[in-house]
Amino acid sequence: MSKPRVFITRLILDSGLQLVQDFCETEIWSGELPPNRDELLRSITGMDGLLCLLTDRIDAEVMEAAGSGIKVISNCAVGVDNVDVPAATARGIPVGNTPGVLTDATADMTFALLLAAARRVVEGERHVRSGSWKTWSMDSLLGADFTGATLGLVGFGRIGRAVARRATGFGMRIIYYDPNPAAPEPGLEAAQVEFDTLLSESDFVSLHTPLTNETRGLMNASAFAKMKPTSVLVNTSRGLVVDQSALYEALKSHCIFAAALDVTTPEPLPTDSPLLTLENCIIVPHIASASWQTRQKMSRMAAENLIAGLKGERLPNCVNPEVYVLPLINPKNMK
Ligand code: GLV
Repeated sequence: MSKPRVFITRLILDSGLQLVQDFCETEIWSGELPPNRDELLRSITGMDGLLCLLTDRIDAEVMEAAGSGIKVISNCAVGVDNVDVPAATARGIPVGNTPGVLTDATADMTFALLLAAARRVVEGERHVRSGSWKTWSMDSLLGADFTGATLGLVGFGRIGRAVARRATGFGMRIIYYDPNPAAPEPGLEAAQVEFDTLLSESDFVSLHTPLTNETRGLMNASAFAKMKPTSVLVNTSRGLVVDQSALYEALKSHCIFAAALDVTTPEPLPTDSPLLTLENCIIVPHIASASWQTRQKMSRMAAENLIAGLKGERLPNCVNPEVYVLPLINPKNMK
């Protein structure tokens, strides 16, 4: 029997690649950059499965280009805002993601960014390299304490909670805003509050929400105006949750103290972005899950989702399990 044919939009790590190559005939996009639109539409044509990254926009047009044989879309990321999930559901295509395995790596990076922004690590490093370090002084590069400070988590799912556990070790008070919180976690002390309370009471605000219509632009000028002038914002969720022009104004005018972003709009952030002119803004290139172990686990999980879908089995991690119960909706009737 011939093997199923799959398109992989960019190289994943060995733990997953090997599995896919053993089971499928693979076409792997070998470019350093993602395939552009035409290349993606051409490469997906006639494929049985797709393994993609968060850099690929997978919408109805891509699904149509694949043709009726496509059985699975496996996104090698926990966030699936790059995939039009309702369009996949309407076509009966299960969509896989990689939850859980990147929780700790992302929480670690969140803490790295919180500490770096609050204690001005990157600014200090620039100070040394530029030859500005003349002596030790009492008031140079002062930042904020963690012990006793309030950490406000926007989103209290897997990653928000992992950040909260770390914050407990730092002696922080933890509050969170989440319209749909999961069940409380025994031993984890954190108080649920309204969004405005979180903004006004937090010394540190950290974003752990998926990108949805409700969260797009959530951190806007009015939100920044409610934050303390000493507060720090960290974003490891999605760039579009933050209104970047409003953030620039808030940082420039010292309406908030500092920010650290793992995610931006767009990605990569152009080097002429005004945010890059600010000393009190740290930006790293979407690397919160980038540890050797975590990326191996993500690659394996994405491969397992892909292979399950090709076999007609339920994906171990499926974001649209409705495909297993709902009759197919005719996509042509979708608004
Ligand atoms: C990373 O941002 C992910 O969604 O996995």
